[in-house]
Amino acid sequence: MVVIPAAGLGRRFLPVSRVVAKELLLLGRKPLVHHALDEVERAGFTSATIVTSPSKPALRSYFDPEPQLERALRERGDLETLACLREAAAIAGRLRLRFVEQSSPLGLGDAVRLAGARQTGPFAVLLPDDVIPGADHWRRLLDLHAATGRPCFCVRPVPVETAHRFGIAVCSPDGDGRLRVERLVEKPPRGRAPSNLSVLGRYVITADVLGALERMSRGRVHGSELQLTDAFAELIARSLPVLAVPFAGELFDNGTPEEYASSAARYLARVTAGAAPA
Ligand code: G1P
Repeated sequence: MVVIPAAGLGRRFLPVSRVVAKELLLLGRKPLVHHALDEVERAGFTSATIVTSPSKPALRSYFDPEPQLERALRERGDLETLACLREAAAIAGRLRLRFVEQSSPLGLGDAVRLAGARQTGPFAVLLPDDVIPGADHWRRLLDLHAATGRPCFCVRPVPVETAHRFGIAVCSPDGDGRLRVERLVEKPPRGRAPSNLSVLGRYVITADVLGALERMSRGRVHGSELQLTDAFAELIARSLPVLAVPFAGELFDNGTPEEYASSAARYLARVTAGAAPA
């Protein structure tokens, strides 16, 4: 099962994210959340849960079947558009898509905690900001988890001047060709990042990560955000191994309006070159 957190305020995309959920911004012909489900399917997962907020009803309706509109398109003979329209509801059906509501924007950690409360075993988390056309990173994450039983996530190098936008990890090889995370800082102040290795939003969450989130949730100041990175940091502080997989594939970062604009242009070039469907 994969959890796709999509309940954030989309602060960096205000004011437009007041009326259009950031996860519905288009990259090529599909919104970010649909790309996320494509990745889930490519990786071989069979179910997905989107964590959404009461202020984003369109995120649910995007995946609803629309028989009247389908009929109108069929009558016009517009079969290509009809196929695109139907695919949104179809992928939701194939992945037995469910929604969990986060009533207040209390952070990524809180979203994962809510979705995890219904889970028995370990599960995956995929942040829809980054669109990744491949799936090899999931095979590597899941193999690493299967071999060790430990929680893990992808990391990738970023330019130091952007490190303040990310969770930043200090890692060292653990002797088995794996990376062990030694230190983690969520969004370090500019110029103070302890490394240039950022946490990429692809995680395997285990019961001990959920336990850390629960403890942090009970202890937090009312209304303050819960960071997923801090739950991993709590495990590291207790000498419980947290592992990382270096990501080296193709990626479209949509974390800021500038990155989004540049990703949209690169994605279009990729489609034009025939490397991907729109
Ligand atoms: C989240 C995580 C951060 C991670 C980033 C990757 O931040 O908290 O650790 O590096 O995603 O995109 P957000 O971009 O949601 O603020």
